[in-house]
Amino acid sequence: MSKWTDSETVTLVADFQKKPSWMPVHEFCQKWGSPRGRSADSVERQLRRLQCNIGKIYVQPSPYPKYDTPLTLEGDALILSDLEFPYHNAEFVNRCMELAEAWGIRQCILAGDVIHFDSLSGWEPNWTTSNTGGITAEAEQKLTAFAQTLSAKQQGKFFELLGNIGDRKEQDGLSTELDVARAGLKRIIAQFDHIDFVLGNHEGRLLRALEVTINPDELLRLLDAKNPKMRIAPYYYSYLDTQCGRYQIEHPKGASEGTAQQLAAKYHSHVIMGHSHLLDFSWDISGEFYAIHAGHCVDETRLPYAAQRHTTRRAHKPGAVIVMDGYPYLLHWRTDWERMKRIV
Ligand SMILES: [Fe+2]
Ligand SMILES: [Fe+2]
Repeated sequence: MSKWTDSETVTLVADFQKKPSWMPVHEFCQKWGSPRGRSADSVERQLRRLQCNIGKIYVQPSPYPKYDTPLTLEGDALILSDLEFPYHNAEFVNRCMELAEAWGIRQCILAGDVIHFDSLSGWEPNWTTSNTGGITAEAEQKLTAFAQTLSAKQQGKFFELLGNIGDRKEQDGLSTELDVARAGLKRIIAQFDHIDFVLGNHEGRLLRALEVTINPDELLRLLDAKNPKMRIAPYYYSYLDTQCGRYQIEHPKGASEGTAQQLAAKYHSHVIMGHSHLLDFSWDISGEFYAIHAGHCVDETRLPYAAQRHTTRRAHKPGAVIVMDGYPYLLHWRTDWERMKRIV
């Protein structure tokens, strides 16, 4: 973080003296620091150094990190949610990428469930139609190379996992899933300058399988997606700041029809969410904030749970969003792609 300048320090002290008494010091530090690119902790330390009266210390602050710095992008972006490689809907994703290219969109946010991790699923096995054999030697080599970068404890878990996968059918195998995901991500990395990777519940399957805490960066290495253009952080949401305000790109816990509206009202922010696989363009209860369910980029006919048995729940729909100049454009399976290309 940059050094404090004299004028910044003078402003800080003056603003702190005007702080209303009801406002907690931490809230002041957060509000003061955020637009200046400083963390609340850094502002608080500076106030202490300047011997401003921020109260006596009886107990020391917790040494553990605060989870208050999700990934943030600024400007325009294509938002693709629930790609669920290797079951992605290639035709739809290609259309979205083509439109993004035509509009000059250089940023992309992957809004969770980027990889399906079917082979790590805790769900019951599926009915299947064919058996094409076990893990390939090449895939095993790649996985072994990845495992060697992990700590000893993580390695043990990983090799145990690998051992079990070898006995499974290739179509359910982790190696195939990873290979397909790697190829897809490679194309996305090639097209965009900045890509933010939001975690989804499917990424969480890796944590459950390994039964250890891992840095999400490990996931990028596993997906061969470690690249200066690609960022990942331990959050199930990220921010996109635009001239029309902040968008929260979410892969939340809830997936009901009202979830996007509730989140927008709760966080006073526009919301574009994945996870529900629903397609819906709406506003929060105040009418102030967009509350969008972005659909999904997975081909659900390839998901046994979705395709082999009918439910009476609302249909899931392919969808994605491009935010351009602050406006959200909801893309769906019947978008008039050629006409849309011409609007810029
Ligand atoms: Fe999903
Ligand atoms: Fe999800």
